[in-house]
Amino acid sequence: MEKKTILTGIRPTGNLHLGHYFGTVTNWVKLQNEYETFIEIADVQALTDNFNNPEKVRKNVRELILDLLASGIDREKASIFIQSKIPQIAELTVYYSNLVTIARLERNPTIKTEIAQKKELFGNNGESITYGFLGYPVSQAADITALDGEVIPVGDDQIPLIEQTREIVRKFNSIYGETLKEPEYMLSKTTRIKGLDGNEKMGKSLGNAIYLVDSEEEITKKVMGALTDTNKIKKDDKANPDVCMVYYYHKLVNDDVKTVCEECKNGLRGCVLCKKELINKLNEYLKEFKTRRKYYEDNPELVEEIIKEGTEKALTKAEETIKKVKESMKINYFE
Ligand code: TRP
Repeated sequence: MEKKTILTGIRPTGNLHLGHYFGTVTNWVKLQNEYETFIEIADVQALTDNFNNPEKVRKNVRELILDLLASGIDREKASIFIQSKIPQIAELTVYYSNLVTIARLERNPTIKTEIAQKKELFGNNGESITYGFLGYPVSQAADITALDGEVIPVGDDQIPLIEQTREIVRKFNSIYGETLKEPEYMLSKTTRIKGLDGNEKMGKSLGNAIYLVDSEEEITKKVMGALTDTNKIKKDDKANPDVCMVYYYHKLVNDDVKTVCEECKNGLRGCVLCKKELINKLNEYLKEFKTRRKYYEDNPELVEEIIKEGTEKALTKAEETIKKVKESMKINYFE
């Protein structure tokens, strides 16, 4: 049986942290064995809210590619490509923009949340929202359909964007004839990873993230400052591991988490020792990542080759799609 196609994307705005890793990337590493996998470095999408900071996007394209390869994305199984290198995506975005109303975009829950978070860029009442930002769900529909993405692995915050893609596809097909495939989303089982400060979300802008590239010193500093049970004052006080971020991360990387839990509850382990154990476990856990990352850092030609290969593959698919789309829309002149 032919493998189904996965299309997923990530914005190059920073290094991968544990939240990305456990929430998203380990899932992709598994899925690449079962699906034909395309991973888009969404630089054009990143520019929709970073248009005034092109250096940041540029730098993070490289960082992200290194992080993905070091996480175990395998060139034999998955194609990594850069969005701006596929002009057909921009072209499809223009054609699809007729198929969605401004009101519908403004109602999109993901967009609404993001506008509320980006007051500095878009103003308190959203009076400075750009056309490009409001329209990025249309561009994401172009990402997905250009590559014929059938299954889209996402976190719950992305579901409205996939819904929007499905609507655009249905509208396109009903007006211009059956042309595009309607994608399905696959909700990743892993939950969102909390930040060092106990915030529900680990994130760069929240300053509460542990990055996969963090040095041992950085990890030590961060774990030492992590939120623990504030009622525990002395080493042998009994504490509640469920409100402790150190315990929370032990659960991710420590096989013997039961001992941590029992000892904590019974006042048999101090927080300093517990943090040191976590630091060791994290360092051990990240060892393979770091070895691989160093290898790719030392071989920039290889990385370039992998990206070129992925982009070529994506381009071939996108060319087929645009041909079909233009035929259906009757704009296939002189062909
Ligand atoms: N919007 C996604 C995010 O912010 C990134 C993305 C871009 C994406 N294109 C995509 C995700 C296509 C899935 C499919 O994380």
